[in-house]
Amino acid sequence: MAQQKATNITWHGGNVTKADREALLDQKGVTIWFTGLSGSGKSTLAREVEQQLFQRGHLVYVLDGDNIRHGLNKNLGFSPEDREENIRRIGEVAHLFNDAGVITLTAFISPYRADRDNARALNTDGEFIEVYVDCPLEECEKRDPKGLFEKARAGIIKEFTGISAPYEAPEHPELVVKTGELTLEESAGVVLDYLVEKGIISA
Ligand code: ADX
Repeated sequence: MAQQKATNITWHGGNVTKADREALLDQKGVTIWFTGLSGSGKSTLAREVEQQLFQRGHLVYVLDGDNIRHGLNKNLGFSPEDREENIRRIGEVAHLFNDAGVITLTAFISPYRADRDNARALNTDGEFIEVYVDCPLEECEKRDPKGLFEKARAGIIKEFTGISAPYEAPEHPELVVKTGELTLEESAGVVLDYLVEKGIISA
């Protein structure tokens, strides 16, 4: 848990509410949290959902692990503590975005259940949609789009998720998408259907 260091600070709210922004945008501001192994298809799926939502006229934004680690989180590595801090920051940023009314997609391995649950806890019910991008390790390793599994097996990359570091699968995710069995289109359809069903976007 991050320590509260600053004192003598006061929370200020404005007169424009999240509901006002949602009405303006004709959508609900939510976080769609994709979690899964490296190579499971999180980013690909998030980008496909992003494009389809945008084409339907929605304001949507993707926070992606590899990208965020070039900037905001460039000072973090892959130890359990650094991953916790990585996910803590992203949970907060995603919550700010969804408070702004944006449909916010995050694509991070986020291997620890407790860290994902902390990100969820920032939100009210229905605002946080956990999507388990479920793809068997063997399939991710076969795909190995960045050649990282090969390096992890050779011991060149330490603490690699699924090989030498843990991945704790979600126990009660809102959605499970089996990217090894579905096409990209079908996988995106699972997410979009859920958003319509829950009234986050209109049909
Ligand atoms: S997380 O575990 O902290 O959520 P994050 O999603 O930000 O990870 O970053 C994962 C990406 O970093 C992977 O897709 C891969 O490209 C790269 N990476 C580099 N080293 C590792 C490692 N040791 N374990 C997992 N991914 C790594």
